[in-house]
Amino acid sequence: MCKFHTTRRDFLKGAGALAAVSTLPVSLVELAFADTAKNFTFAYISDSHIQHVKGTQFVRNWDRGLIRAVAETNLLTPKPDFVMFGGDLAQLGKKEELDHGAELLARLNYDFKCVMGEHDYYLDLGEYWSKLYGPHYYSWDHKGVHFVTLNSVLTYDEWTHERWPSAEQRMLEMAGLDNPNGSPFMVGAKQREWLRQDLEKVSRQTPVVVFSHSPIQKIYKGWNFWTEDAEDVQALLQPFRDVTVVYGHVHQIQYNQIGNISFNAVMATAWPWPYPESYAQAVHHLPKVTIPMNRADPFFERDATGWQLIDIDTGRVSTKYNLYNNQNRVVAYNPETGRPEDTVFQKPEARISPQVHY
Ligand SMILES: [Fe+2]
Ligand SMILES: [Fe+2]
Repeated sequence: MCKFHTTRRDFLKGAGALAAVSTLPVSLVELAFADTAKNFTFAYISDSHIQHVKGTQFVRNWDRGLIRAVAETNLLTPKPDFVMFGGDLAQLGKKEELDHGAELLARLNYDFKCVMGEHDYYLDLGEYWSKLYGPHYYSWDHKGVHFVTLNSVLTYDEWTHERWPSAEQRMLEMAGLDNPNGSPFMVGAKQREWLRQDLEKVSRQTPVVVFSHSPIQKIYKGWNFWTEDAEDVQALLQPFRDVTVVYGHVHQIQYNQIGNISFNAVMATAWPWPYPESYAQAVHHLPKVTIPMNRADPFFERDATGWQLIDIDTGRVSTKYNLYNNQNRVVAYNPETGRPEDTVFQKPEARISPQVHY
């Protein structure tokens, strides 16, 4: 198990032992300070997509992913200060799904907070979710770190309020991955103004951690790995010395560094999405991806899942992975090249070739 003042070796050793019995997409985020007495960790679970079938029946695979992640998080020693759930708790935003997700998350032995996902939002625009989990966006301070949770899955008013004959249809339109009727996600002007005012009170030296569901960067619009007003949100965050954005939604490993902001995706407990460049043959827009991972296989539920430890003491990407059927690897910011780099860079000839898109 991971230690509080874990070294990379301790973590990988512990994670390796865990991987022998299970490979769960639980992320542990460590905040390390010059004064190590102030160090703390929090855990992150995301994208469970609890799906109602009928009555008390739910899709078992998605249930099991969340149940196992919760159980394993409860076993962490020492204990994380809190747990974040990264959004897409439900599949189609139904009360049954949100209730069932709440029931499973209630088994956590820690306080937890939630991020809004599009699968939670587009049936009733987050109304029932709010009854269970509180406001759609909020901030708080914890041990000298300023945390912000955004609802990044809003979109244009016309699309939200006028286009669809029913709320169910709207939900279905947003639930697809490769959907030409989709509309780009955004944080929106109202929430950006709230963020601007929220950050005004925070010292530029204070570490800032932002939780969003979609990436606050533009990766691939066709699948909404995208936030329409990403640059505007980034501009509000750039003045701070260390900013770390942690996001779900993409169900795959991604990381990036833009100025002082590090971006870290966490994996899903439900299923892995394929990589845009391997499945859709689409160019993605991460400025520099140094870790072209083997493509995620949608037919293998644990592909591209595993443990990751995000070290956010510096505001630079530093993530340690222990993946299913993969080598332990570390992605760390290289001050000489000014970008995150992978310790186990995959040579192009060693990668699984892109699949044919039928
Ligand atoms: Fe998701
Ligand atoms: Fe999502």
